[in-house]
Amino acid sequence: MASTAVVLGIALGAFARIAAAAQPGAAEPVPAPMRDLVWGKLNFLHTTDTHGWHGGHLQEPQYSADWGDYVSFAQHMRARAHKDGVDLLLVDTGDRVEGNGLYDASTPKGKYYYDIYRQQDVDIICTGNHELYVASTADGEHLYTVPNFKTNYIASNLDYIDPRSGERMPMAQRYRKFQTKNQKLDIVAFGFLFDFIGNANNTVVQPVKETVKEQWFQEAIMEETDVFVVIGHVGVRMPEFQIIFRAIRKQNPLTPIVFFGGHVHIRDAVAYDARSFAVASGRYFETIGWMSVDGELERAARSEDARPSFHRRYIDNNLSGLHHHTGLNATTFPTEHGRNVSAMITSSRTALDLDYAFGCAPKTLWMSRSPYPGKDSIYSWIETEVLPDVAVNPDRRHLPRLAIVNTGAIRFDIFQGPFTRDTTYIVSPFLSTMAYLPDVPYAMARKVIKLLNNAGKIASSSSAPPDNRFMANPEQLAVNESIIITVNEEGVASDDDAADLTGDPAPQKPLGEGTNADQRPPRLTEGYTTRDDIGTDGDDTVHLPVNFYVVPNCIQAEVGFPSDGEPETVDLVFMDFITPWVLMALSFLGGEYGREEVQLYVDGTFTELMAGWIEKNWPKRC
Ligand SMILES: *[C@@H]1O[C@H](CO)[C@@H](O)[C@H](O)[C@H]1NC(C)=O
Ligand SMILES: *[C@@H]1O[C@H](CO)[C@@H](O)[C@H](O)[C@H]1NC(C)=O
Ligand SMILES: *[C@@H]1O[C@H](CO)[C@@H](O)[C@H](O)[C@H]1NC(C)=O
Ligand SMILES: *[C@@H]1O[C@H](CO)[C@@H](O)[C@H](O)[C@H]1NC(C)=O
Ligand SMILES: *[C@@H]1O[C@H](CO)[C@@H](O)[C@H](O)[C@H]1NC(C)=O
Repeated sequence: MASTAVVLGIALGAFARIAAAAQPGAAEPVPAPMRDLVWGKLNFLHTTDTHGWHGGHLQEPQYSADWGDYVSFAQHMRARAHKDGVDLLLVDTGDRVEGNGLYDASTPKGKYYYDIYRQQDVDIICTGNHELYVASTADGEHLYTVPNFKTNYIASNLDYIDPRSGERMPMAQRYRKFQTKNQKLDIVAFGFLFDFIGNANNTVVQPVKETVKEQWFQEAIMEETDVFVVIGHVGVRMPEFQIIFRAIRKQNPLTPIVFFGGHVHIRDAVAYDARSFAVASGRYFETIGWMSVDGELERAARSEDARPSFHRRYIDNNLSGLHHHTGLNATTFPTEHGRNVSAMITSSRTALDLDYAFGCAPKTLWMSRSPYPGKDSIYSWIETEVLPDVAVNPDRRHLPRLAIVNTGAIRFDIFQGPFTRDTTYIVSPFLSTMAYLPDVPYAMARKVIKLLNNAGKIASSSSAPPDNRFMANPEQLAVNESIIITVNEEGVASDDDAADLTGDPAPQKPLGEGTNADQRPPRLTEGYTTRDDIGTDGDDTVHLPVNFYVVPNCIQAEVGFPSDGEPETVDLVFMDFITPWVLMALSFLGGEYGREEVQLYVDGTFTELMAGWIEKNWPKRC
């Protein structure tokens, strides 16, 4: 498909849809035991941190449904809600961009994404930090996604600055009051972003604790409503949601409040009290979150004794799972609109030449599913193979250097097989370059990595960079909260609810032709085995657990070191993203270096350097 013309791509894509949806070339899903969805009066589907993966995971069958399949799914689910006289709302909590070729590979970025994304009827939508790092991304949000979703877009604590007039205005309305379609439930909804400080200067993020003091917010929480819906690009255990919860609850002791969060890239659920419930729905369009609220929701029926009940489910973005939950099959599931959206994605991927292969990965390299250091660790590969080759400045190649890369610069595993243009953006979507400080005393330089890898902050002054863990991936933030994983002495984390898999209380309904209850249980695939505050039955598909290993904030390669003895001085080379932490670490070690002394070490982004290395070192074909 990679080389077919755009027009042909659409035609073939639409045709392929008839047999099976998901993107062409995506691996076929296989059956597994399922837990069903529990419907209530008010139901939600939730996506978060999709990061451009709207084409689905082409190399992972369990997440290979695409945005068009989700459009079909939502249409069927809405129809069912309508038939049953209940309501269904769709929510998205931001970080829709950066992290996949479908968004990142075009010039300008998002050329195809905005039109694809808007095809889904999302009822409540807000902004993530990734919409704001780069000024042009925030402009894109202002120019396309906000108008595409009109009154559904909420920006409770985010302003946009018009580049021409310099005028500061709310990115979108501060909150939304509306009635559900079927039951006419009154909903007051908010859309927040955590107290993010890394945004470009064309937006302003107001700290949540300030926002809740504002008059509009205080008035909004006094509105007559049946349910409050707070969505946010905020981890459900982060203090920002606590602040909002307490502010609303103070004025509304009995009103149900539901929260939808994200940012931390995990599946999670928490009840803040008996009448509130918060769900986080993973990352990278692997997960479609489900929440239902049941009970007497109308405020007229509200009483001390009447308590709503809540359910959550983490739906694998897996086509056979979506068939299962709708009771449909490959023929009956795709809707015309859904097919059209899948075809849009196919033609966009073709136009962007996302399947162009730089080389063939000889084996799978894991971020956290294999220990670091280790032969299957993506970080060990970068440290021992990539950096020595690419951390080279033509004028200083004879000088020894320490090259430091933050682990957050790598966003995804590399699977054995073609390493494509798409993979490049998936693995490393950032525009970070390699910077350096020349001739740093080795005695000092060698201690920097240790400081960067300390938990917490290097120094606690107001000018200090944020928590060191921001150099690693968001998933690592969750590690110490012991939400989904438990860490043993070796730093190895694993979910120990394997027992739960066999003794699963939910009825297990094997799918697929020829399977029936008498047969041996189907083979389990590895995947999410989520443990949240509610229990271990959240995932819709029963999986074998996946190992999870803690990785440091940063890794380091010694390049061009003398074969005997230690160098006097080295070039300290590092990703420009971590400059504030590196300078802080040096200062802590007694070395005062200013930002103006930091120079570009080698031309090109780290991503380009890595792709270049692959082109040169891995076989061209698989
Ligand atoms: C895909 O989903 C189906 C659910 O119907 C499940 O049986 C199957 O195991 C999933 N595939 C993988 C690879 O997890
Ligand atoms: C933001 O920064 C850019 C470049 O640094 C500058 O040109 C622009 O005037 C700034 N805009 C605002 C609104 O401060
Ligand atoms: C899908 O379901 C329809 C309607 O129930 C049925 O007629 C058709 O044979 C099924 N197709 C497949 C591929 O199972
Ligand atoms: C799907 O695409 C076809 C062809 O472009 C168009 O005629 C049709 O109206 C579209 N249908 C929907 C529901 O988007
Ligand atoms: C987790 O917490 C422990 C103890 O507080 C600390 O030693 C460790 O470095 C932390 N790990 C991460 C990844 O933050």
